[in-house]
Amino acid sequence: MRPSLAEYQHVHSGKVRDLYAVDDEHLLFVASDRISAYDHVLATPIPDKGRVLTALSGFFFEQLGAASHLAGPPDDERIPAEVLGRALVVRKLRMVPVECIARGYLTGSGWADYQAGGSVSGVALPPGLAENARLRPPIFTPTTKAEVGEHDESISFAEVAEKLGASLAEQLRDATLRIFSSASELVAERGLTLVDTKFEFGLDDEGRLVLADEALTPDSSRYWPADSPGTSLDKQYVRNWLTSPASGWSKSGGQEPPPLPAEVVEATRRRYIQLYEQVTGLSFGEWLPSGAPLA
Ligand SMILES: Nc1ncnc2c1ncn2[C@@H]1O[C@H](COP(=O)(O)OP(=O)(O)OP(=O)(O)O)[C@@H](O)[C@H]1O
Ligand SMILES: [Mg+2]
Repeated sequence: MRPSLAEYQHVHSGKVRDLYAVDDEHLLFVASDRISAYDHVLATPIPDKGRVLTALSGFFFEQLGAASHLAGPPDDERIPAEVLGRALVVRKLRMVPVECIARGYLTGSGWADYQAGGSVSGVALPPGLAENARLRPPIFTPTTKAEVGEHDESISFAEVAEKLGASLAEQLRDATLRIFSSASELVAERGLTLVDTKFEFGLDDEGRLVLADEALTPDSSRYWPADSPGTSLDKQYVRNWLTSPASGWSKSGGQEPPPLPAEVVEATRRRYIQLYEQVTGLSFGEWLPSGAPLA
């Protein structure tokens, strides 16, 4: 018999995830269908999104071979039936308070920072690069980890070293770039370009660095079709709609973003599912159904 969610103590909710205590060392890490953009949680959920994030993170934790927080299979018997498919049992870690971003291409906020000052998170880049230019080698562009409602700020490697010590800073940078590079190779075989991604790491009781949070999802990463640079297969689609005239919303106006129209919700849902299927080569229809009791 699976436990019910009510048996677990809720410990934290972020913009997208709800965390529950399984025991002293483990958490139930539940991905909701909430979607956030520009530091706002949008009013409209994307059906199946939490299942896609969970399925894809689980896939990468297993494929990458890096030490991760994953502490059980997707159908672990500690996962309540009502969140099956959207939850994983993970090791509770001491989270490192830096968002570890790797960029293989110049786009998004990286492109904006480069245009403003020729560098991204203190990494000076050659002049004259165009939007979407490839960065060889990929660069480590950390940010602070802001509280809910606050904005993550770019910081330089030197500032990370100052904050966390040179040794941990180097470990973070090396692990970020190493995992980014193996994931890039993996998805290239599936016709995809991994443009950039954000990792979060934690430390275990022995002080070892462990990949935590989510891994290489369309929330935390940009993906382009290999043959169509700049075409977003990820959350960028929603950001683009929000900043288009169709939304009637302004990023800088201090208002909450409007609800997403049904067709934007469905197009987003389709993109998330399609990305899962293209990356893994698996059918999302065969992923664990949420809310259904196990046979
Ligand atoms: N193994 C772990 N142990 C403890 N905390 C973790 C672990 N893995 C991830 N976390 C934390 O769990 C939370 C996940 O929630 P969520 O992703 O909704 O957070 P968020 O950072 O507010 O949102 P966003 O990802 O949109 O910035 C984050 O605060 C993350 O740092
Ligand atoms: Mg998060």
